[in-house]
Amino acid sequence: MSEKLRQSGIEGLGDIAWGSHFCQFYETKQDMHELLVPFMKAGLENNEFCLWVIAESITKDECISVLQQQIPNIELHLQRGHMEILKHDEWYLDKGRFNSAKVIKAWGTKLEQALTNGFDGMRVNGNEAWLELKDWKDFMDYEKRLNAIISDWKIIVLCTYKLANVDATVILDVAHAHECAITNRKGQLIILEVPEIKQLKARLKKMNEELAQKVAERTGELSEANAELTKMTNDLRKLSNHLQDIREQERKHIAREIHDELGQLLMAMKFDVAWLHKKLAATDEAIFEKLKALDEQLDDLIRSIRKISADLRPSLLDDIGLEAAMEWHLNEFKKRTGIDYSFEETNHDLKLPDPVKTVLFRIFQESLTNIARHSNAKHIQVHLARAKDAISMTVKDNGKGFNPQVLNTSNSLGILGMKERVAELNGRFTISSSPKSGTCISTWLPLK
Ligand SMILES: Nc1ncnc2c1ncn2[C@@H]1O[C@H](COP(=O)(O)OP(=O)(O)O)[C@@H](O)[C@H]1O
Ligand SMILES: [Mg+2]
Repeated sequence: MSEKLRQSGIEGLGDIAWGSHFCQFYETKQDMHELLVPFMKAGLENNEFCLWVIAESITKDECISVLQQQIPNIELHLQRGHMEILKHDEWYLDKGRFNSAKVIKAWGTKLEQALTNGFDGMRVNGNEAWLELKDWKDFMDYEKRLNAIISDWKIIVLCTYKLANVDATVILDVAHAHECAITNRKGQLIILEVPEIKQLKARLKKMNEELAQKVAERTGELSEANAELTKMTNDLRKLSNHLQDIREQERKHIAREIHDELGQLLMAMKFDVAWLHKKLAATDEAIFEKLKALDEQLDDLIRSIRKISADLRPSLLDDIGLEAAMEWHLNEFKKRTGIDYSFEETNHDLKLPDPVKTVLFRIFQESLTNIARHSNAKHIQVHLARAKDAISMTVKDNGKGFNPQVLNTSNSLGILGMKERVAELNGRFTISSSPKSGTCISTWLPLK
């Protein structure tokens, strides 16, 4: 059974399993009690129902007074049904004869009652001094059957035999019917184990040792695998960060190229159109109209170029800093979506390291994109606060909210990206969202 072992209470025997069935040979009453009292005491102390079936040589009162020497509150245990003392004829005999079937059934019933009454199991001692020759064979058959029957019961059975009542062959018979035999004569305890049980125990011990060895090996392997996995995760995070950096650099470069090169070219074209306008427009109405349209198209083109480069990398972020870039972006956002905003910041001169600025701005951008795509919000509140060695940003909408717990990582790359960016800078990122209060994205980044 997988239950943990029980204390036998018998020195030299140690802990035993439920289903144990062993026997004791004694010479004097004192020998008998020296073993049985601590055996019962251990049962009482460990929430086991204890049953002591005594034989003629001892009375119930005598039994109680011996117990009392080591268990002062024994009367209370008896009153409360924690322990019961029965005479052998009350338990073993049916109309003066031993009936093994009835006795086995009675064990089962007693155990069931004990379990129902909240005990962990049951511990029994039966004194077999009453046995007469006519019952002997039946009783030995019963003892042997008992081993198999109780092997998966929460019961511990100790059978007590008086040495004077049994001859040498009988001793062997009795010992063989039990897992182990104990004799205590004149204070000396000898434990004899049946060879099969001894072998079984040795095998069990070996198996346990092998199991422990395997567990240790497996644990070692697992922790190695775990360390490798952690390293891989860290490497991946570094790689992802590196790729983000490259992406930012590239965007910055392309944004500059588009803005500066194309922007300059278009401005030059605008001047040329203005020159042509001055020279030719007065002479021909059609040319005048064409040049006017061309000029307007050039304005559109310049606006588009500005927008594309600003989306790629708001030059404002580099030129006039995070707050102004955010304000500009919010304004554009309002024009495009009709969603109103409030923007609060506590410091007007945010000098931030470039990675911090970029991460905050990209999270801010993704938050606004999500608000436009998913929230149905009417209003957003953005808050930027700088402390001495950290900066925090919250973007809060009053939309329909969602349950961040059920996000599927393969489908929520936007949020995953935000988390990754923050983790890379050793910051903290939280989403709180509910249908009633909308969504709030908070980012906190340390400034080293
Ligand atoms: N402000 C918001 N209001 C309501 N739902 C949101 C909001 N932000 C994110 N979500 C929910 O979280 C999901 C994941 O967002 P995200 O990772 O950015 O992926 P995507 O925007 O591509 O769907 C969205 O599909 C949406 O259901
Ligand atoms: Mg998104």
